[in-house]
Amino acid sequence: MSENLAHFIQQEKSILQRLQSKDWDERNIEVWVKRDDLLHPEVSGNKWRKLYYNIEQAKQYKSDGIFTFGGAFSNHLVATAFAAKESGLKSIGFVRGNELHKDSNHTLRRCADLGMELQFLSREMYVLHNDKQFIDELKLENPGFYAVPEGGANYFGIIGCQAIWKELPSDVDHLFVAQGTTTTSCGLLLGLPEKTELHVVPVLKGFDVQKTMQNHLNWLLFDENLASDLVAKVNVHEEFHFGGYGKYTPELLQFIKQTYQIHQLPLDPVYTAKAFYALEETLKSSKFDNQKVVFLHTGGLQGCKSIEEKENMRFFD
Ligand SMILES: Cc1ncc(COP(=O)(O)O)c(C=O)c1O
Repeated sequence: MSENLAHFIQQEKSILQRLQSKDWDERNIEVWVKRDDLLHPEVSGNKWRKLYYNIEQAKQYKSDGIFTFGGAFSNHLVATAFAAKESGLKSIGFVRGNELHKDSNHTLRRCADLGMELQFLSREMYVLHNDKQFIDELKLENPGFYAVPEGGANYFGIIGCQAIWKELPSDVDHLFVAQGTTTTSCGLLLGLPEKTELHVVPVLKGFDVQKTMQNHLNWLLFDENLASDLVAKVNVHEEFHFGGYGKYTPELLQFIKQTYQIHQLPLDPVYTAKAFYALEETLKSSKFDNQKVVFLHTGGLQGCKSIEEKENMRFFD
């Protein structure tokens, strides 16, 4: 890891935390959490994994800055703003929704405070965020800027996530992870040890996991059959989106409070709480007896502040 990029991340803080419950103990299930949320308060979890090689690339191109895309509560926007600032790069965030402004919520305020220039796009315009011609136009309008897709969903994002395996034990039976763009899970799938099963929990409602992962892996591997063989191995738990992206129920918010009280594990309502809820439900099956299970904590805790603000409650008292 190069010095200039590593200085604000504390890699050693991403510990494996053992969680215990009476039921899991009785059934000899070992549950561990890979606490990537502890890497950094804002460039935490998969954000760091996905940005690391992208920032290195921007530096190699001697770019002046980075531009990227995200929604109103995007962890990725905040992480990019912070990482760019720390790396001596400017940043521009193209935000979905031209009804928003920098004071709309904690996330956007934080981006602006970190020096990110925010440009608000209409939803019709935002749909183009992956369109090559649209990105080329933005590059012409912002010369010297390196483009990172929404959620860090590119080759560099994927290989950054694949590297997580270097920090995990080799005898894991099951790995659970929250899923948005599928960048993290594609990286994990590429490095998947033979004996490990990957479990993904999409937070978007009606999301086509297989198709999205297949598309990412097609262009990465140049081999559609290999890509579909890999995707076929993934266990998809699609019934835990709680209404869809950014949606939540009182039950989910209660689950967050409870999980913190029982395990001292902070979760966020957009991603990790849904994935951890799915893990708890899934482990009820006897298939998991005598198994070693890891939950990858992908961070996102900055997002709690916006929801605490909105709901007038505290999760981690
Ligand atoms: C906290 C958190 N967890 C999980 C995800 C999903 O990761 P991915 O988009 O790589 O599937 C995201 C979004 O990037 C996230 O912010």
